[in-house]
Amino acid sequence: MLVVPSIRYSQLPRFQCSSLQAVRQLRQLQKAAVASLPTTLHRFSDPDVVDLRSDTLTHPTMQMRQAILNAPVGDDCYKEDPSVNLLQDTVAKLFGKEAALLFPTGVMANLVAMMVLCDSRTSEVLIGEFSHQMIYENGGLATLANVNPRILRNLADGTFDLEEVASKIRGNYAYEPTTKAICVENTQNYIGGRVIRPSFMKKLHSITSQHGVKIYVDGARIMNAAVALGIPPGDLLEYADVAAIGVAKGLAAPLGALLVGSTEFITNAYKIRKLLGGGMRQAGIIAAPALVALDTMPALLQRDHKHAKMLATKLAELVPLGLNIDMDAVETNMVMFTVEGLSVKEMIRLMAEPTDKDGGQYIIKLFDNGNTVRAVMHYHISAEDINKTVAKAGAVLRNLPHNNTPELQQQHDIM
Ligand SMILES: Cc1ncc(COP(=O)(O)O)c(C=O)c1O
Repeated sequence: MLVVPSIRYSQLPRFQCSSLQAVRQLRQLQKAAVASLPTTLHRFSDPDVVDLRSDTLTHPTMQMRQAILNAPVGDDCYKEDPSVNLLQDTVAKLFGKEAALLFPTGVMANLVAMMVLCDSRTSEVLIGEFSHQMIYENGGLATLANVNPRILRNLADGTFDLEEVASKIRGNYAYEPTTKAICVENTQNYIGGRVIRPSFMKKLHSITSQHGVKIYVDGARIMNAAVALGIPPGDLLEYADVAAIGVAKGLAAPLGALLVGSTEFITNAYKIRKLLGGGMRQAGIIAAPALVALDTMPALLQRDHKHAKMLATKLAELVPLGLNIDMDAVETNMVMFTVEGLSVKEMIRLMAEPTDKDGGQYIIKLFDNGNTVRAVMHYHISAEDINKTVAKAGAVLRNLPHNNTPELQQQHDIM
């Protein structure tokens, strides 16, 4: 049984002032008090379920839960929540920007960023066809921000063709929308967690800066990109004007995202967040676990990336049975694959069917990514879960009619 040491309030100094220095001191004491708590925590859900649908499924760790309990709070609409102020200050510094602003969700952060960057009518943004903003955000860009999205092809590595970018930038011509910003997603989720490198950002900037076009980064998983490249996270944003930083994906905070940018941008974003009902009161209970997430979780992302490679390598053994996978595309915590002669939906359904045959008595949950099946690694996923997934995939594939020949059965009786 997990024993959770609790911090007694009487042991903590009373929180009397809202200065960043005071809250930093308090946090040091809290950090020492929770250091003995496990960073990771096994999921509370059914152990017979291996849930690989997303890293958004991560539960907050014990340290995060303890931080919520002990968070110094205030009214953030008066900018008096010390935990929020500390988080914003920490994230702005970490990403090399002047200021930061906390949001409940990445979707709201993306929307507000677009509303601020495109603050006049007839504005346009260049955006990847496979970006989260285009696919999964209810068209908020057009319907709420009144911005014209101009679609760019996403290349296989998640980047854009720079000639296409240059040809699609539009100036101040009376008949056409004016390009105000370009959106980059790092890591690129839909394509499989691809990492957008600083070298690409530099080239992009050399084009956009000639036209006053701002670079926006949806960094829901930007820490995965930094960990994969082994570079400080700020290096990824050197050529970006504004970014959204996610803390509720692989970093496992329960919710939250922060916009980072210039002080002027953040001042404007603050007003638009309020307009949308995003002004929060004692938001320290969101900020406190986010601070723990930034302290403790990046080190664990490396393990998720290793697990993704492990899963991909083992799935590649099923290629003779009709599984398609691009090993080079596995850069962070996601694995994409397809199965010949089987739709994505059907593969997902079969993997989620409980069975006590070769695959054992458990189910595997996977994500329907349109043309591919997606499996996402996160800190709840163990090497054993990966073995179960591969065993189950092998059983599903061997049972397909076209694999049900004695030769193939014998040849690939590998699980
Ligand atoms: C790339 C990307 N951007 C933005 C979001 C939205 O984040 P949130 O769920 O916090 O609104 C997600 C969510 O999965 C995402 O994958």
